[in-house]
Amino acid sequence: ESAEKSGYEHFMLKEIHEQPNAIKDTLRGRIINDGEIVLDKVKITKDEIDKIEKIFIVACGTAYHAGVVGKYAIEKFARIPVEVDIASEFRYREPIINERTLTIVVSQSGETADTIAALKEAKKHNSRVIAITNVVGSSISREADDVIYTWAGPEIAVASTKAYTTQLVALYLIALDLALKKGTIEKEYAKQICDELKKLPERAERILNYKDELQEFASNHFNTKDVFYLGRGLDYAVAMEGSLKLKEISYIHSEAYAAGELKHGTLALIENGTLVIALATQEHLFEKMLSNIREVTTRGGYVLAFAMEGNKQLEGIVEKVIYLPKTMEEVAPIITVIPLQLLAYYMAVEKGCDVDKPRNLAKSVTVE
Ligand code: G6P
Repeated sequence: ESAEKSGYEHFMLKEIHEQPNAIKDTLRGRIINDGEIVLDKVKITKDEIDKIEKIFIVACGTAYHAGVVGKYAIEKFARIPVEVDIASEFRYREPIINERTLTIVVSQSGETADTIAALKEAKKHNSRVIAITNVVGSSISREADDVIYTWAGPEIAVASTKAYTTQLVALYLIALDLALKKGTIEKEYAKQICDELKKLPERAERILNYKDELQEFASNHFNTKDVFYLGRGLDYAVAMEGSLKLKEISYIHSEAYAAGELKHGTLALIENGTLVIALATQEHLFEKMLSNIREVTTRGGYVLAFAMEGNKQLEGIVEKVIYLPKTMEEVAPIITVIPLQLLAYYMAVEKGCDVDKPRNLAKSVTVE
């Protein structure tokens, strides 16, 4: 087993390090001529896309969080309304599905019982189904109409890392493909997004160098009882995944909040020393985020913030700022999540937890 870990202490750490290559492999051959998308196993035509009135993204756990980012991307680029649903809820609430609905199911393993059942529910009501999965030949890949594979390679650690980042890549590619076919995105803008996607592997590689800093932070904070993750827009979606990572492997209670919602309840929980992770990568929301951060610091909250390189406005306001390589905010989630994975990892290691096999959890849940 240690040989398979290639010298890393845990599979999770190895898989976090595999992300630059996994992102590269998932992009390979899918962007051509600087901005055209080729998804060879997705056969949906322009005519079919024009008829779609609504998209459901359905998944569980981390894949569900990828879906939340997918909603932002598809609605922004393709201007089709998207609902993201937890698979175990979707199938029992009589969702309104018909032949004008497109359903995207996301599943690393392709074997999650709830997600398979949701796929069947969608098909029963004549929705076309696109699957995003990491396992060739999995149940979900066989039952869907179209498949887009994430080329992350086998993921062993229960806490998902490289599957999430490659699911995001797949969702961005689908969003761009739908948008280009529908004509809802300027070619030049699509090309810019594609260029940024292609630069992500190198940026992800740079973020891996933040390890020592995050390990040190974890060694000072692993005894904390609660952590709040705040963000707006895409940062809120990433906050959900960062918070889940921490809960899953370190057993520290954490919650993700849309930063603007804080004052409607959660602010009551912020007291002297409460650890708050503030994501502030979304430029167009930065001023709003800044005022939410101030709501926390005024009450004595201890804030670790993540901001884009070049934006120094949080210096002196929060305890610590970690700068992410400058990236277009539209695709920032793919790199923002990486330091959060590392933070969760080191918190769990410092606490002495079984990182790869957290208590009560399974890698793939094939029963309801
Ligand atoms: C389990 C795992 C999670 C995973 C979820 C969905 O609960 O512990 O890490 O996100 O299943 O798995 P899937 O294979 O469908 O992506």
